[in-house]
Amino acid sequence: MNEVDNTMKKLLLLTSGGDCPGLNGVIRAVVKAAEHDGNWQVYGSRRAYCGVLEKPNDIIHLTSEVVAGIHVRGGTILETVNKGNPTAFPAEIAGEQVFIDRSDELISIIKQLGFDAVINIGGDGSHRVSQHLFEHGLNIVGVPKTIDNDLYGTDYTIGFQTAVDTATEAIDRLIPTAQSHNRVIVTEVMGRDAGWICLHSAIAAGAEVALIPEIPYDIEAIKAKLTSRFDKGHGFANIVISEGAKPVAGGVVSKQSNELGYENPVLGGIAEQLASQIRVALDLDVRVTVLGHIQRGGTPNAFDRVLAAEFGVQAFELVKRGQFGFIPVSKDGEIKPISLKEATSEYRVIPLEHPLITSARAMGMCLGE
Ligand code: F6P
Repeated sequence: MNEVDNTMKKLLLLTSGGDCPGLNGVIRAVVKAAEHDGNWQVYGSRRAYCGVLEKPNDIIHLTSEVVAGIHVRGGTILETVNKGNPTAFPAEIAGEQVFIDRSDELISIIKQLGFDAVINIGGDGSHRVSQHLFEHGLNIVGVPKTIDNDLYGTDYTIGFQTAVDTATEAIDRLIPTAQSHNRVIVTEVMGRDAGWICLHSAIAAGAEVALIPEIPYDIEAIKAKLTSRFDKGHGFANIVISEGAKPVAGGVVSKQSNELGYENPVLGGIAEQLASQIRVALDLDVRVTVLGHIQRGGTPNAFDRVLAAEFGVQAFELVKRGQFGFIPVSKDGEIKPISLKEATSEYRVIPLEHPLITSARAMGMCLGE
């Protein structure tokens, strides 16, 4: 750390969990709002809490020069990790791999470094950690991000709208090839517990089938839809499926990660499983495209840039007011704070009566029911 001015308050900023488009916009907005305010210096920890615990000397001073123009870039200039949970941090003790709670140590390092407050830009897992750290005495504020859009209490998280654009563009490109070859194309999109990306991109691109985690699918319903498509001479179909979708009788397709401290099962492969079933049952040509991390990359769209600016400014306002343990959310067109406790109380899955679901059904889209 350098350029410390003891008359100013100090704010630590970090990005944690999976990256997404728009993170840099939040970083820039916080830094610009703090400079405009004139009473705060902003610093950034690289690799979230791992940076504080393992390399506190790498914490960087974020000025408007450092953040100039970064709002149009994907990823995060602060880097990120999704396996550095300070409440279950990987360690080796007497030759054995264990997980230890380093949250009190983390809080005391942050305080020793002279930070008055922390802003953590993260998803549901990160904010559960933030709530824990808040309960243990850390002055912390959250910012909602994740392409999955599954954080409770907000209509939108940073990165979601750009991911929908990316998925829609990909499906748009796959539709003519499905049509030209008389094929079924199955596109697997991200969405661990919630089908927001799947349903938005399927409706936007005009897919025939959308399969989401909220509605376990019946293969018979999909077979009936495909048979009618091919019988009527249309001769092609596009299926969009969330990585977290599952059949009525069966589970998600996942494997255990070999990365130390990575807490979630690694999802992926449900599209291939479904494609094999369709090939066997209907003797059709089926191809699979897995969009994967392409959905997390790229330039943030205008919506995410604006949301990043609003969330960044509001998060800084919460810090200034000393309203810790809170997170700004976008609800019914308004940006307002809710408690981290509320934001992590449940996942925001698509309610079965949501207009997206009723509209999809009304247009004859098969949801696997
Ligand atoms: O950001 C959420 C998410 O995109 C999930 O949909 C996906 O399962 C996960 O991240 C994958 O993350 P990674 O491979 O980076 O650990």
